[in-house]
Amino acid sequence: MRNDPDRKDPGEPFRHEQQWNRCEGIVRWDPFGPEMADPVRALDRVRVRAPLVWTDRGGGFWALTRYEDIARVARDFRRFGQGRPQRGAPRPPLEVDPPLHTAYRAILRPYFTGQRLASFEDEVRSLVVARLQPLLDQGGGDVAPTLTHPLPTEVLCRFLRLPSQSAQIIDRLSDEIYRNEEGRGGNPEAVAAADAELTEHAFSVVSARRRAPEDPEVDLISGLIAARIDGAALDDAQIVEVLRLLFVAGHNSTTSSLGICLLALARDREAQETLRGRPAMLPRAIDEFLRLETPVLGMPRTVREETDLFGARLAPGDQLFLLWGSANRDDRVFEEAATCRLDRQPNKHMVFGRGIHSCLGRELAEMELRVVCEELLARTSSIELAGEVTRTSWVRFGVSRLPLRLFAR
Ligand code: HEM
Repeated sequence: MRNDPDRKDPGEPFRHEQQWNRCEGIVRWDPFGPEMADPVRALDRVRVRAPLVWTDRGGGFWALTRYEDIARVARDFRRFGQGRPQRGAPRPPLEVDPPLHTAYRAILRPYFTGQRLASFEDEVRSLVVARLQPLLDQGGGDVAPTLTHPLPTEVLCRFLRLPSQSAQIIDRLSDEIYRNEEGRGGNPEAVAAADAELTEHAFSVVSARRRAPEDPEVDLISGLIAARIDGAALDDAQIVEVLRLLFVAGHNSTTSSLGICLLALARDREAQETLRGRPAMLPRAIDEFLRLETPVLGMPRTVREETDLFGARLAPGDQLFLLWGSANRDDRVFEEAATCRLDRQPNKHMVFGRGIHSCLGRELAEMELRVVCEELLARTSSIELAGEVTRTSWVRFGVSRLPLRLFAR
């Protein structure tokens, strides 16, 4: 398609592709099918076949496969609003549209940037070292249960100034929810029960903070308690919805990302040596690892008005997934898209989404990933795979078993 003479204006993909696809009919795709055991290759193939695909899974949804189309829809938040709430009440800011979205983002954003975040790095480093050192002492092991899985919740709970028991509760319940979701042969009652327990935990966190308030300049939960939207304070239920989102958003995606980065390093001795010698290259290298293997493969939008896309008529209420994992390997945008270039620049990947809902925790997650890679590379002379690796697929592409041999310096 890159050399397609009809495609002169990359800003106008819809019109041309529409004609092309009308002849072909709508391609079907199964996010839980056997080919998605390797989602990278599966999405590479789907993207070549069609810009828009359909699946009957999850109540039926459309999915866009190509970069420019995904970027366009992500920007058009009026025609393509936020996806249907996954469970219970909408969780702001992710599951609400402007103007409410704008109000929540304004309250939350300052906690995730600048000096507040910079001063948190030392704490993150000490959590990372505490998890890494035992692994180094024993020459390695499966880093999934010992590092990539527990660390993000520990970091999140420190970030939210919650006790360590909260980390165990959040870990257990978000795992339970993920394991039992549709498509994994799961059990909807188990999802509902775990979600109810997570909600209950969030309520107990809010009431503890109301009893013992902290400085809202420093503490996000106290900031939510002090905040006003249109002059009104948030009640407990509204604060709980935000916490329910943060508990899950900050966990699975970071776990997947850590697994992807450590696997990429273990597979590539040359990359390890380059980055050990030049740790300042790590942020770009991490971007590239996650572009090649994107942890959040896609997120949904809800169609708000009847729209024709590539010969399909999308109706209000239809779900349309934006496949970030496919966009990130689109060779119309990324030169030698399947090749890992540690210093790729520009690298306008969509690992953290695009548009008004792009990831609020991006800088926090990037810092955490960088600190883990920095510490691991600085404390080892070599990292090697030491057994079979197990991957997770749709919709969080990650690594659930990652045995590594670590040669300490
Ligand atoms: C490497 C790890 C992470 C990845 C790959 C990731 C990915 C994403 C993506 C793709 C979106 C866009 C969703 C959409 O457009 O529908 C998103 C949104 C979001 N993420 Fe992350 N995320 C990560 C870590 C975190 C962390 C650590 C937090 C918080 C502690 C967080 C909080 C959020 C929130 C609140 C939103 C919704 C923003 C909005 O709707 O305005 N994420 N994330």
